[in-house]
Amino acid sequence: MTQNSSSTKFKRSRISSWAQWFDRCAQYYQDPRMKMAYYQDGKPVAMSVMRAMHKDVWNKMRAPKDSIVLDVGGGIGLFSQSFQHRVKRIIGTDISLTMVRDAYRLNSRGVFLLCEAASLPFSSRSFDRVLCYSVFHYLRNLKHTEEVLDEFLRVLKRDGLAFIGDILYPQNLLNRKKATVLPQRRYKNTAMWWPSSLNHDLKKLAFNPEFFINYCRKNNYQCKILAQHIPGKVTAESRYDVVIKF
Ligand SMILES: C[S@@+](CC[C@H](N)C(=O)[O-])C[C@H]1O[C@@H](n2cnc3c(N)ncnc32)[C@H](O)[C@@H]1O
Repeated sequence: MTQNSSSTKFKRSRISSWAQWFDRCAQYYQDPRMKMAYYQDGKPVAMSVMRAMHKDVWNKMRAPKDSIVLDVGGGIGLFSQSFQHRVKRIIGTDISLTMVRDAYRLNSRGVFLLCEAASLPFSSRSFDRVLCYSVFHYLRNLKHTEEVLDEFLRVLKRDGLAFIGDILYPQNLLNRKKATVLPQRRYKNTAMWWPSSLNHDLKKLAFNPEFFINYCRKNNYQCKILAQHIPGKVTAESRYDVVIKF
């Protein structure tokens, strides 16, 4: 992990959104995994775990060879790289300009767009699959999340499928809340490797699976809650995946 010289200019300004935080990550780190916060104890997650993660997603997404896939919050486009030869087309989007720029640097033949997940610049019924992995905990609140889901279902074709992966499971389900705001991050353990320019007091959203089940029931969509099968993956919170179908 090396510090990019441009990161010093961030030291004084406070981080006000996840978009800004990811932008700084993408500028600060050289390693693609670190840019997208795929790290553990200051080191990038092992390549074998990344491969297992992509395999798990591919198996659940079940994209046919002639399908057009939209990867929302795709960061620097690692899923685009993995899947581009297995489907007809995959388009990546992200809210961070630096991520989109780096996605093009990594894969000049890919297509990557800068946009917010709740406002996708595509016609209705354009995609066979919408993939959105490890993004939902960065959404603002439940209203924003419903807007994002509505947008996914708008751009999906009638027989399409949305795969939303790596959703944080609330630590305490007993309070029966649909979404939980996880406690503020403490920097005690990250202080050794985390640059102060990445410190923030933003919160992550965790979802009770019932939130997705109720959303689908209300809209008459099919919903499946799936466990993750990723050998070697270690995260602070338990996570799950959701598949939504018209
Ligand atoms: C943990 S990274 C995951 C990247 C990619 N999905 C993957 O798994 O390889 C989360 C990404 O979501 C993006 N993101 C966060 N909030 C977003 C939003 N509201 N709309 C679009 N992208 C968003 C971030 O900029 C970041 O690139």
